[in-house]
This record gives sequence, C-alpha cells and structure tokens, in this order.
Amino acid sequence: MKLDAEGIDAICGLVNDLCGIYLDSSKDYLIEGRLADLVKKHGCQSYAELARKARAGASNPVADDVVNAITTNETLWFRDATPFNALRFKILPELIDAKANTATPRKIRVWSAACSTGQEAYSIAMTFADIVPGIANWDLEIVGTDISSDAVRRAREARYSQLEISRGLDQIHQSGYFSQSNREYHVNEVLRSKCRFEVRNLLQPFTSLGRFDIVFCRNVAIYFKNADRQSLFRRIAEQMNPGGWLFVGSSEALNEMGPEWTPQRHCGAVCYQPKALATV
Ligand SMILES: C[S@@+](CC[C@H](N)C(=O)[O-])C[C@H]1O[C@@H](n2cnc3c(N)ncnc32)[C@H](O)[C@@H]1O
Repeated sequence: MKLDAEGIDAICGLVNDLCGIYLDSSKDYLIEGRLADLVKKHGCQSYAELARKARAGASNPVADDVVNAITTNETLWFRDATPFNALRFKILPELIDAKANTATPRKIRVWSAACSTGQEAYSIAMTFADIVPGIANWDLEIVGTDISSDAVRRAREARYSQLEISRGLDQIHQSGYFSQSNREYHVNEVLRSKCRFEVRNLLQPFTSLGRFDIVFCRNVAIYFKNADRQSLFRRIAEQMNPGGWLFVGSSEALNEMGPEWTPQRHCGAVCYQPKALATV
C-alpha cells in the first residue's frame, strides 16, 4: 500500500493525538515499516482510512494496534548504569534512613514511567534487593506504566528471551533473581510481587496514581513536542513526595525540564529534585 501525502498527514495527526509522539513527513519510512501490516489487517484501502478507523470511538482496538506498532519499546537492563549506581549508593540508603523515623518506615514507592517491557522496573527492584536484606518485608511498590498494551502485558509476564537477557544483565543478577525454563528467563516471585504494571498515557492526567519517592521517566519525552514535555515534567513534580528524586534519559536536555527542577550529580548520574522540595 502506497503511503501518500494524505496518509502521512492523517497518520502523523493520529499518532500525535494518541500518544504525543511527534512525527512528520521525514518519518514516512517508519510509518510504512510499522503500519503497512495494520492497513491490511483492518481491511483498509489507504493509511488515511486506517487513521479514520483508529479515531472511531473510545477503547478502539485499531487505535491500540497503531500505538503498539508505532511506539519504540527499545530498553535494556540497568540502562545507562549510572542512575542505578546513584540509587544504590546514594538515594536508596538516604531514603531508607529518612523514612526510619516516619509512620511508614518501610514504605517506598517508585514509578517507572514509560516502562516498556519491564526491564527498568525490575532493574530498580534488583538494585533494592541487592542492598536491602529481606525485600519481602518491605512495603516497596514499583509501578510501571506504558501506553503500549503489548509492552505492559510483557512486563507483567516477566519472561525474557536469551537475547533480551543478554542486553545489560550480568551473571550475578541473572542467577540471583531469575529462573530458567523453556529457553526463557523468569523474574522471581519476590521481585514480581513488588512490581505492578498498567497501561497509562503520560499526556493524560495522573488520576489515582499516588505519590512517589523516586521516578524514572527516561527516553520517552524525547518523542514529545516541547510544550508536552514541559507539561509532563511539571505534572510529575506534583506526583513526588517531599525529597523525591527524578531520573531522565541520558540525552534529555536540562533546559527543557522546566524551572521546577534542581539538577544534582551523584555517582555520574544527573538526578533531579523538585525545586520547592529539594533538600540541598
Ligand atoms: C524507548 S522506550 C523507553 C523505555 C525505558 N524507559 C528505558 O529508558 O529503557 C519508550 C517507551 O515510551 C512509551 N511511550 C510512548 N509514548 C507514550 C505516552 N504518551 N505515554 C506513555 N508511554 C509512552 C513507549 O510505548 C515505549 O515503551
């Protein structure tokens, strides 16, 4: 199916409305590569017709298919390493200390926003389990959210191929937190019990999400327009507990984060605290 100018406009508008991802005509190869099969699957005569079908009504399976196909779910274990070093050596020990004299000394909430297939959330859980004995006795909740229902389903399943495991997971974590069966690696039940996953669009209100001590929002805002990016980080600031910490992707520019955030460097990672709440 040929992708014409009308199809490009219709798909770019649709993708922007569905998930905030900014595409233009320079991405025609990506649109064709990822959506050609859906045009056929849904019996459409053109990309513009696919876009029209995807816009027909709420909870539309065509729209869900488009989101699953167009999103880039690239991720790996302990991605970029330094945020996990900052967690391990600075942020978690201080947070645990700070919580010790509160009414909820063992309650820690972490958000992996745009969690893709779960590697980021489980890497956070492994980091916690590495340094805290008896993780089962902690009220640790790691909430992974993503707009892609396929990615969220895979995160919940917590089963990974040899190829996925080979991307960033060292032998110690593999043997400590995974079991193997049928050439797949399963995250252990203790870690799984600390992580839950839900489909959520970061451009929509964060209803019933609660507040977090730590937020990872990495490698997703780069796809958004500036205004959406700024609004996202402003709204994330409202979801943080006092003294909370935010990590963004290594290529995400500080000046686009908005005025609410104070950057700090720990263990080679840049991490942010909301300005009004910063402790240093
Ligand atoms: C490149 S992955 C990043 C995964 C992980 N945070 C990491 O850094 O390894 C980007 C993820 O953002 C998700 N995404 C894109 N637009 C989104 C939106 N509007 N709301 C929530 N998630 C979105 C995609 O489905 C994809 O899984």
